[in-house]
Amino acid sequence: MGKVEDNADANMEGALIARDRVGVQDFVLLDSHTSETAFLNNLRKRYQENLIYTYIGTLLVSVNPYKELDIYTMTQMQLYRGVNFFELPPHLYAIADNAYRVMCSEYNNHFILISGESGAGKTEASKKILQYYAVTCPTTEQLQIVRDRLLLSNPVLEAFGNAKTLRNDNSSRFGKYMDIQFDFKGAPVGGHILSYLIEKSRVVHQNHGERNFHIFYQLLEGGDKDLLCWLGLERNPQKYSYLIQGRCAKVFSINDKNDWKIVRKAFSIIDFSEKDIEHLFGIVASVLHFGNIQFEEDSNGHAIIRNGTQIKWISKLLGVHLSILQEALTHRKIEARSEEVLSPLNVDLAFYARDAVAKAIYGRTFTWLVNKINGSLANKDSTRKTVIGLLDIYGFEVLDTNSFEQFCINYCNEKLQQLLIEMTLKAEQEEYELEGIEWEPIPYFNNKIICDLVEQKYKGIISILDEECLRPGEATDLSFLEKLEEKVGDHAHFVTRKLADQKTRKSIDWVDFRLLHYAGEVTYCAVGFLEKNNDLLYRNLKEVLCNSKNGIIRDCFLLSELDNRRRPETVATQFKNSLTSLIEILMSKEPSYVRCIKPNENKEPGKFDDYLIRHQVKYLGLMEHLRVRRAGFAYRRKYELFLQRYKSLCPATWPHWHGPAAEGVERLIKYIASFLWLRSLLVACIVHAVFGSLFFSRLQAKYKGCLGKREYKKKREAAIKLEACWRGALARKEAKKRTWAVQIIRKFINGFINRKKPLCPENVEFVRLVQYTYFMKLRDHLPKNVLDKSWLQPPSILEEVSSMLQKICIRNLVRKYCRGVTAERKVQLQQKVVASAIFRGKKEGYLQSINQPFMETRLKENDINPKVLQLIHGEKIKYVTPVVKYDRNGFKARERLLVLTQSAAYVVEMAKIKQKIDYATLKGISTSNLSDGIVVIHVPEDNKQKGDVILQCEHIFETVTKLCMLANKQNLVKVVQGSLQFRVGSGKEGTMIFTVGQEPQIFKAKNGQLTVVSVGSRTCLGLCKYRCSCSMVLQLR
Ligand SMILES: Nc1ncnc2c1ncn2[C@@H]1O[C@H](COP(=O)(O)OP(=O)(O)O)[C@@H](O)[C@H]1O
Ligand SMILES: [Mg+2]
Repeated sequence: MGKVEDNADANMEGALIARDRVGVQDFVLLDSHTSETAFLNNLRKRYQENLIYTYIGTLLVSVNPYKELDIYTMTQMQLYRGVNFFELPPHLYAIADNAYRVMCSEYNNHFILISGESGAGKTEASKKILQYYAVTCPTTEQLQIVRDRLLLSNPVLEAFGNAKTLRNDNSSRFGKYMDIQFDFKGAPVGGHILSYLIEKSRVVHQNHGERNFHIFYQLLEGGDKDLLCWLGLERNPQKYSYLIQGRCAKVFSINDKNDWKIVRKAFSIIDFSEKDIEHLFGIVASVLHFGNIQFEEDSNGHAIIRNGTQIKWISKLLGVHLSILQEALTHRKIEARSEEVLSPLNVDLAFYARDAVAKAIYGRTFTWLVNKINGSLANKDSTRKTVIGLLDIYGFEVLDTNSFEQFCINYCNEKLQQLLIEMTLKAEQEEYELEGIEWEPIPYFNNKIICDLVEQKYKGIISILDEECLRPGEATDLSFLEKLEEKVGDHAHFVTRKLADQKTRKSIDWVDFRLLHYAGEVTYCAVGFLEKNNDLLYRNLKEVLCNSKNGIIRDCFLLSELDNRRRPETVATQFKNSLTSLIEILMSKEPSYVRCIKPNENKEPGKFDDYLIRHQVKYLGLMEHLRVRRAGFAYRRKYELFLQRYKSLCPATWPHWHGPAAEGVERLIKYIASFLWLRSLLVACIVHAVFGSLFFSRLQAKYKGCLGKREYKKKREAAIKLEACWRGALARKEAKKRTWAVQIIRKFINGFINRKKPLCPENVEFVRLVQYTYFMKLRDHLPKNVLDKSWLQPPSILEEVSSMLQKICIRNLVRKYCRGVTAERKVQLQQKVVASAIFRGKKEGYLQSINQPFMETRLKENDINPKVLQLIHGEKIKYVTPVVKYDRNGFKARERLLVLTQSAAYVVEMAKIKQKIDYATLKGISTSNLSDGIVVIHVPEDNKQKGDVILQCEHIFETVTKLCMLANKQNLVKVVQGSLQFRVGSGKEGTMIFTVGQEPQIFKAKNGQLTVVSVGSRTCLGLCKYRCSCSMVLQLR
């Protein structure tokens, strides 16, 4: 069995140590301890692993997990019990245990200050600490009852003093300071609670989304039928106007029925008699009945109660006379000299009186409750006791509309922040300076300036408020605001709409004032400040309550109060005074701090809102605290206490030291130090044995810290060296690269400057580069065919080479082209070349004919009459085409064939050869320059020949070219203009006129001349854009 337990312990410890490895468990160990980001990262890292606690030295930072964690079990409590603070991961229990053990060993008083904004987890923390003491402190059977009462006082106070707000479903609406008293053996033997300013206004009014105090809902939900019947209540909270203003009577996270059971049980343990309970619930029910009273106007405009039911119940439950109560709710007693006059109230004032009485009885009942609990916790024994105080007070609060209550709550938080600053940041730094220890001051924001603004005598806001409340005349909330502007208007932390700059003004109403608190700015609505501060209850209502038969009410409203004519202290002043005495109580004790942080606004588990948390870290002054802890001494004690505790270690201080304590400590330390160096191990053991683990562990921790620091420094130096070498190598590499680049750039520039010089060392690389680049580019931009004339513009140094290359390239293209030409095509092209030489630029229609290839022949041999073929037998026929022949005399047109052989041209009519022209005798060939197809073949004058032949051919260029080429008489072809002479035969000559007209015509004119009319004008003769292709054809030749 024992072994199993050991194993479990070891496992748990192992797990704890493993958990501890997430981030650092003490911010003091953070490498970059001045970096807020590093701080947040550590907090986040741990929070995400459900490690909600982290230390800053001995201060505990806690982040609300918003979920149940299994770190509050019995086993955990036992684990932390009596173990040195730094040996286990951070925990509330460690803080509680540490305070407890120091208290036991030094026999002094302590307090644990739990602070943070609303919903950050203060109340939960205080409950956990209380549970820890209840479980771990030694106790006896007799003391068991004290323990139970301590624990169960909480649910009762929470039921009456807590409520659901927008920020927290179980928000404490009162401040609580609880002393737990311990006897000399360290057993809890009693307790005492101080409560601060309960938010009474909640009884009669709740904001949207908020509830009244839990007890009302618990009673309705959990109270048994008989009880409700006796109280005149219905189970449904919707029936009560004081419970439905926030419109959320039912909340899922709250189990009112269950809580009711706990509260009921608690009453029986905390010494409440049945009568007390009866009276108490009578009051709770009366408050609900008060809320349902409605007034209406009578004919005089005076208020009368609409329905008598509620008032009957109140009269029964509070034991007051019905008619007197009725009168008191609708009238006000005014004292005029020695007479008392009853003045009727109007409806508004009646409602005001109703609410005032409801608030008053609830508020005072709460105080009664605290006193009652205190009575049951009190230890009657007069032996000396030590205490540990637990302070759980309402957190800093900013609502949409902030009223007098928020003003008090936030002022209270300012005071606690001030206390913390005074006791940590300020006091410690001042102490170092005083001691002459070398110390670099760490700046922090001291919120004393804001505390002064609120509480200073005569000049502070509370004083001004009181003055307005007490002065005769018409004081209103607005006149209070004006007074504020007048008296504290120039304060850096105070603004109103009138005082604000243009930008801020929009966000402040005329009835608002704004305070720049340490935790952020809050705008307060001044409406209701005077009334709430006065907290007046009409005298006749007070009288009614003083005569109540309800024991609690009677205790709360004493008749002596009626006799006291002095005006009671205002609420704010009472609060201020109670805070001042609280601070005094705390200052006399040894502090421990828990700083609670709210991780998000939505009560959501696991959500770490960086912005929100950073803000809290800032205003809680955690960074400054860390810096002081880092720079300061880990262990500090007052000389007297230190000497008292350890004087037995040194013969010079034991048993008494008569000189100043500081000198005694010096002697003691010197003695121990020499002793330590000689026999460190032995002494360590002795010290451990004699003075307990605490001192030894601290010594050990310090020593380990030194070792760790040394090791760390060594590693750090090594890392820095390595880093420097590596950086050096990188830098050299980079420098080399840059030098190389500079050389290249310089060469390039030099090359450019000298680029026109002949090749020399200065420009050779540049020129090569230019050449290379140009040639590479040229490679991709060469002309694709013979007609493509594009050529990449060369740089000036390459112009010559480029033009040579261009020529070679073109020649190559031409060669390629020529190689691709067939023999047939070649002949065609040769003929085209001849045609070009003859007609280009001379005869119209030539250009249009270029694209039409010359045919081998227009007619085949079998189109020629066989007789004719027989006649020219022996000659090879080269070309045959149909023509129109014009008679030489009458110029009649006749269809003929022109047959060209290798030696002669024949004009053929059917089976007859009409005329043979030997090429050898051919004298010339004429055509006109117009677009007609007339060709005249000139023959010599002899008998055989009949005269020149006048033909009209459809393919004149082809026919003429073939003819002259076969005759080999290209030079004899003439292109004439205007007219030409031809021989008719036997020495006669004829004239042919060429003109231009609307349509082509050939006719014999009246003067006997042959007139040839062609269409079109001579605009282009092949000299324009076709020149290139023509010349190309010429070149082919
Ligand atoms: N240690 C914790 N573990 C689990 N839940 C917690 C813890 N501390 C706070 N909470 C949750 O946060 C809510 C608000 O905490 P509470 O202590 O009432 O805030 P405060 O008193 O600071 O206004 C609690 O009702 C609970 O749900
Ligand atoms: Mg709380």
